[in-house]
Amino acid sequence: MALTVHSTVGEWLDHPVGGRILSGFLAQGGATPDSLAPARGLPLGQLVALSGGKFPAEALDGLIAAYREAAPEEAAQADAEGEQPTGWVEEITPGRFAGQTVIVTGAASGIGRAVASRVAREGGRVIAADISKEKLDELAAALTGLGADIVTVAGDISDQDDVARIVLAAGDRVDALANVAGIMDDMSAIHEVSDTIWERVLRVNLEGTMRLTRAVVPSMLEAKEGRIVNVASEAGLRGSAAGVAYTASKHAVVGLTKSNAVMYAKSGIRTNAVAPGGVATGIPVPGQAEFGAQVLRPYQGNIPSLATAEGLAASITFLLSKDSVNLNGAIIASDGGWSAV
Ligand SMILES: NC(=O)c1ccc[n+]([C@@H]2O[C@H](COP(=O)([O-])OP(=O)(O)OC[C@H]3O[C@@H](n4cnc5c(N)ncnc54)[C@H](O)[C@@H]3O)[C@@H](O)[C@H]2O)c1
Repeated sequence: MALTVHSTVGEWLDHPVGGRILSGFLAQGGATPDSLAPARGLPLGQLVALSGGKFPAEALDGLIAAYREAAPEEAAQADAEGEQPTGWVEEITPGRFAGQTVIVTGAASGIGRAVASRVAREGGRVIAADISKEKLDELAAALTGLGADIVTVAGDISDQDDVARIVLAAGDRVDALANVAGIMDDMSAIHEVSDTIWERVLRVNLEGTMRLTRAVVPSMLEAKEGRIVNVASEAGLRGSAAGVAYTASKHAVVGLTKSNAVMYAKSGIRTNAVAPGGVATGIPVPGQAEFGAQVLRPYQGNIPSLATAEGLAASITFLLSKDSVNLNGAIIASDGGWSAV
């Protein structure tokens, strides 16, 4: 089988030439193929996003070049056949969000970007909000030409004035809200957590989610219809997936989701959450606390597989769509089965 950037990490590792090249690359950094076990199902190219800079695009180019040099005939065959992605491929449902306005926070990167892009390509009007104006501009540029209807709003979801600007950009009617923006902690246990980490993580993950939701609910109540999807985490289901601040914030997001579901069950507003497992986005991790990170390390070995941002967007857009009609207050683990372990 010929290898490309679209071949999975597992296919690379199991290939006689690709396995040797990838293992050699890992060994340079003191790592073994086992360290990539949860990523076996991901296309090799996803490692760039996943690695947060440790596996840059140049390193990917280097692996491909080494493979092409070592197996020129196979590489020529791949060129002739054209690059075929393996595994799951996103399939657009044309018009699924036609005529609907959907606010997506955290839209400039990772899962939020994949959600914003998918809703826009499925006909929705997207209000794409994020603290990074630069990356929002990149998203808008990438979607231009695809006929996407996208309005970008740069702002901090924990700031009330910025939240008001995001909702103002949406206009009178918000059909759906995806609260995706969030930040990680440093894996600290409670005796070592700093005020800065605690306050930042709670402010963005919980307070930001609360502020956006509070701002859109009045128009949804008026319309007697609305869908809200919160992004929790495996850390919203258990105590072993992150530090105390992130874990507390995501458990609180689960609580917020359930409260909303009950409060508006008879008002036409449905609120659900997705709890992602490991996702190849490269979400920044602000350091590794000495005690907590060490305690948590063995539990990370339980992750069965890593997902792509597009894979998470598939779960989230289902909940955002009208097809989630009978779901309210559900916390859906989109984690390849991690939470079932
Ligand atoms: N990546 C994972 O493995 C994983 C696992 C479980 C849950 N999650 C959750 O998924 C969500 C998305 O994470 P991701 O992996 O796509 O990360 P990401 O870093 O790629 O994207 C998060 C986005 O949120 C934005 N953001 C951060 N603070 C903000 C603020 N105050 N106001 C507005 N925007 C802000 C960032 O600029 C970024 O564009 C988060 O809520 C995260 O906690 C991620």
